[in-house]
Amino acid sequence: MDRDPEFMAMLGGPRDDAQTAAYLARNLQHWTDYGFGLWILRESQQNRVAGRAVLRHLLLEGSDEVEVGYGFHPEFWGRGLATEIAAACVRFGLEELGLPSIVAIALPANLRSQRVMTKVGLVYERGVTHDGLAHVLFRSRSRAVAGRA
Ligand SMILES: CC(C)(COP(=O)(O)OP(=O)(O)OC[C@H]1O[C@@H](n2cnc3c(N)ncnc32)[C@H](O)[C@@H]1OP(=O)(O)O)[C@@H](O)C(=O)NCCC(=O)NCCS
Repeated sequence: MDRDPEFMAMLGGPRDDAQTAAYLARNLQHWTDYGFGLWILRESQQNRVAGRAVLRHLLLEGSDEVEVGYGFHPEFWGRGLATEIAAACVRFGLEELGLPSIVAIALPANLRSQRVMTKVGLVYERGVTHDGLAHVLFRSRSRAVAGRA
């Protein structure tokens, strides 16, 4: 996934092996620190890796937030998979982990991802700067409705 320019187009561009190893090390440490984090998603029939999803702490303009993230190999796009896993992550975060809210960020041009956010009940809150780039920030509305929109 990290080597694929199409997958990484809205995520800062492809990573080399060292960058991917650092990404995985950071995300495994997150599991150790918080007991949740990055999931690798496999096709149920053939067990091929289809994509990934994440619930992860994110320091955003000085605030500690928990974000939901998702990405699939392009051959799996357009099947509703991102919506399915994002809804599950939001529900898990709010109902099982008891988080007060969950955010998602995307580059303004990543309209596919923003559509997924809206479909799982996240609502546009504001523009933010992350990693030196302008992003849009969406947030869950409340425990009662998120993930069921
Ligand atoms: C963003 C991404 C996860 C979406 O995955 P997906 O499985 O295709 O998403 P879904 O099928 O659940 O839903 C996509 C929605 O976006 C819509 N969509 C597709 N292209 C669009 C576009 N250019 N503009 C607006 N909406 C668009 C689809 O119609 C669908 O909405 P609908 O169900 O109302 O018709 C996928 O494109 C991806 O993996 N991208 C690379 C990684 C990435 O950018 N991750 C997000 C980082 S913020």
